[in-house]
Amino acid sequence: MRLIKTILAVCFAAVMVPMALHASSGAPQPPSQSWSHHGIFGSYDKAAAKRGAQVAVEICMGCHSISLVKFDQLRKLGFSEEEVKKLAELQGRTKIDRMTGAMDETSAKDSFGVVPPDLSLITKARKGYEDYTYAILNGYLSDAESELVKKVMADGEIAEQEALELQSALLIDTHDKAMVKAKLERLAGGANFNKYFPGNFLAMPQPMSGGQINYADGTENSLKQLSHDVVTFLAWAAEPTMEDRKSLGFWVLGYLFILTVLLYAVKRRIWAKVH
Ligand code: HEC
Repeated sequence: MRLIKTILAVCFAAVMVPMALHASSGAPQPPSQSWSHHGIFGSYDKAAAKRGAQVAVEICMGCHSISLVKFDQLRKLGFSEEEVKKLAELQGRTKIDRMTGAMDETSAKDSFGVVPPDLSLITKARKGYEDYTYAILNGYLSDAESELVKKVMADGEIAEQEALELQSALLIDTHDKAMVKAKLERLAGGANFNKYFPGNFLAMPQPMSGGQINYADGTENSLKQLSHDVVTFLAWAAEPTMEDRKSLGFWVLGYLFILTVLLYAVKRRIWAKVH
């Protein structure tokens, strides 16, 4: 009986502790976006991943590496050999090199205080997956939200109405006024605020805005589009062979199904005389 009680208590703790930790992390849930590669039949939107590779090399690789991918592999997304060479040259690399950025760790640490994480597996490494990375890219303050913050800072005190406005703009819990004030002061001091980063402050300044890249295929270049494309690319980078894995899964299931039918027929035949 005691053993059963102990086992139950351990199971209860195993469920409750992560739940409590999750609830206290306080970071808002990133809104879910639609990704063509999700679901059992999903496959990558190759055109989007190709555009996203351009965004990644031209913008993100100024600070981040994507070292599990080699430039040459980008040809799988439809780049020609010439195009791959040009992209690699932008980072001072050749086409057979891994996608490491021009910025080395020491200078990154000097500039940001932390080394920007390698992005090869980022869409799998963070809770919220693709939606989180997308939310981070879109989670910096808009002009209207910055105005609101300035207005509140100028007042000195946070009135009830302002607390409500801040809550919906910045997605922070405004019950704890001292905490909100401390955050606003850091923000006013030039720290980077992001709605979806746990704790809100991160070392990455807003990395891109709409219009920063011109796509060869004429796709619009709003911030949302650029972010959706670069995240599609990063998802591909994290698992370039996902489609093979999914189709192999179907063959295996089909094989097992046929085997089941055959074995059932064999079983009926063997036992037929006994009944
Ligand atoms: C100016 C340099 C710079 C650029 C450009 C940049 N980043 Fe970052 N990024 C950083 C730094 C520094 C961090 C570490 C932030 C921290 O931990 O506080 C970071 C962190 C991140 C994170 C991780 C957040 C987390 O949960 O730890 C993601 C995702 C990310 N960057 C994506 C991107 C993408 C995508 C691009 C290109 C659109 C990009 N970054 C461009 C500097 C940069």
